[in-house]
Amino acid sequence: MRLVPVNSIKEGSLLAKTLYNGSGIPLLREGHPLNKKLLDRAVSNGVHSLYIHDEYSKEIIEDVISPDLRQKAIQTLKNNFTDIHRVVKSSSKYKNKKNNKIDSAISKITYIAKEFVDNILSQDDLIINLVDIKTMDDYTYQHCVNVAVLSIVLGIELNYDRKVLESMAIGALLHDFGKVFIPKEILLKPGKLTESEMEAIQKHPYLGYDYLKSNLQINHIALSIILEHHEKSNGSGYPNKLSSNRISPYAKVVSVCDVYDALTSNRPYREAMSPNEAIELLMGSCGQDFDLSIVKSFIRRIVPYPIGTMVELSNRQRAIIKELNPEYVLRPVVDVVIEDEETISFKKLDLMDHMNVVIKHLAGN
Ligand SMILES: [Fe+2]
Repeated sequence: MRLVPVNSIKEGSLLAKTLYNGSGIPLLREGHPLNKKLLDRAVSNGVHSLYIHDEYSKEIIEDVISPDLRQKAIQTLKNNFTDIHRVVKSSSKYKNKKNNKIDSAISKITYIAKEFVDNILSQDDLIINLVDIKTMDDYTYQHCVNVAVLSIVLGIELNYDRKVLESMAIGALLHDFGKVFIPKEILLKPGKLTESEMEAIQKHPYLGYDYLKSNLQINHIALSIILEHHEKSNGSGYPNKLSSNRISPYAKVVSVCDVYDALTSNRPYREAMSPNEAIELLMGSCGQDFDLSIVKSFIRRIVPYPIGTMVELSNRQRAIIKELNPEYVLRPVVDVVIEDEETISFKKLDLMDHMNVVIKHLAGN
């Protein structure tokens, strides 16, 4: 199977992975032949690439958590955040009062975090396929799930133990919890924000932290993530302008994953960046926004194009990723596809030895 941009999928191609909407309902089932109507429907749901069966690549690209768990998590976040919103909207006293509904919502989210860690620790080969499929609806919840998954995998690379990973996952799932206290008109404003609106949004880390710090399920690791995920290495972040050595290492991990996932997602106001562009941007922001050591660990585990992905090279040839290069993730060994009318053959090419050739993007079919 391979991942192909929707606009270049040929009619009749077979879908290789069931596509769900954000509520966990299958939009298209695995094995279904694709036609123009279905492809249009995928695009209108904000899906820009799909896995299809093809003759070149027999590799199976697996998600690092099971599709069922992913859907369950998105649904749990959605239901519980909706409940929390209701409580916050209906009562102005929510801040100083313990609320059972919110407590039970948090305990369900905490449980999901534990399931994530169990699920991910049970995998042998932990390389995340970053060319993930996202639908536009429920972006917020999908984003939280992605940030949690990326953070756990990065935490494993950094040798954190299970307890720490669980706390990080809770922090990652709840990193933007404080946004429930920010007026929707500001959060969803399509245009440019005024200075006072920007200030209001920048309060979300502290508001989330302040509300959750009395909740027993949330320990100091998760709290540090909620409070410090927008701090930057050079001290220019918010809310406390902390310098690098004072920022929680766990918040630093989640911050890289948060930015990466946001950059590679389609948003109403901009198109998603390709994985190479996002990785280059992360690398370029080291020292300023992020620590180099964390970004280096990130790209060791979380590769832009996993084995089996078909890409287009700058010389217009198509190639399949064959071997990863952990030090230079954008320069793997590939099999270039050589096609004539009757036959298909492959020619091995190590992109480390051909610096003039670069991966441009995912290939169409
Ligand atoms: Fe945030």
